[in-house]
Amino acid sequence: MNAPLFPTDLVESLKTKGWYASSDLVPQTIAHQLREQLLIHKNQQTLKPAQIGQGENKKARPDIRGDSILWLEPEKKQVLEDDFFKWLTEFKHLLNQHLLMNLTSEELHYALYPPGAGYQKHRDCFATSDQRALSFVLYLNNDWNSEDMGQIVLYNEVNPEVVDAQISPTFAQCVIFLSASIFHEVIFTKAERISVTGWLKKPLP
Ligand code: OGA
Ligand code: MN
Repeated sequence: MNAPLFPTDLVESLKTKGWYASSDLVPQTIAHQLREQLLIHKNQQTLKPAQIGQGENKKARPDIRGDSILWLEPEKKQVLEDDFFKWLTEFKHLLNQHLLMNLTSEELHYALYPPGAGYQKHRDCFATSDQRALSFVLYLNNDWNSEDMGQIVLYNEVNPEVVDAQISPTFAQCVIFLSASIFHEVIFTKAERISVTGWLKKPLP
């Protein structure tokens, strides 16, 4: 496999705005493989309604967050996930080098938003743990129409009342942002909306 592209504007963008978006970052072949695997899970009905909160406070609140998810398990990695994990290992390595980050692990899930689902404005860090350093979303939707809505809204790092960007979940579009500082939301989608979403994590302090 070729070494992943590490765009020169990625470092600058993360440093100055706290987020980066590109549809050229993750190879299309990998997006196709993950899409295929997600659709297998969908057929097998293994995606379950996502919960919010942590520990005893965990609950499904479809009014706040309407997706169904399934965690990827690196130890029980599916063949169709092989290339993605290889790519991610190399990508993490490059992030560590170029941004002097200390990303040591990750957690990732498949996500499916049925029509009518969204995710209210939030940040990705739990109050009790700040291991999540970078959020990563890779969209797997073929033929997305702008009327389908379902954009991710990224709010300004300094003033979270200000919208920095609204990005449609088109095939192989990837969005990366600092988990602790970037508020974001998913606008109610009108079409089924699928992705792999995850967090690159640093060790516990
Ligand atoms: C999340 C999330 C954004 C998206 O799962 O925490 O914010 O665009 N997802 O799916
Ligand atoms: Mn989020």
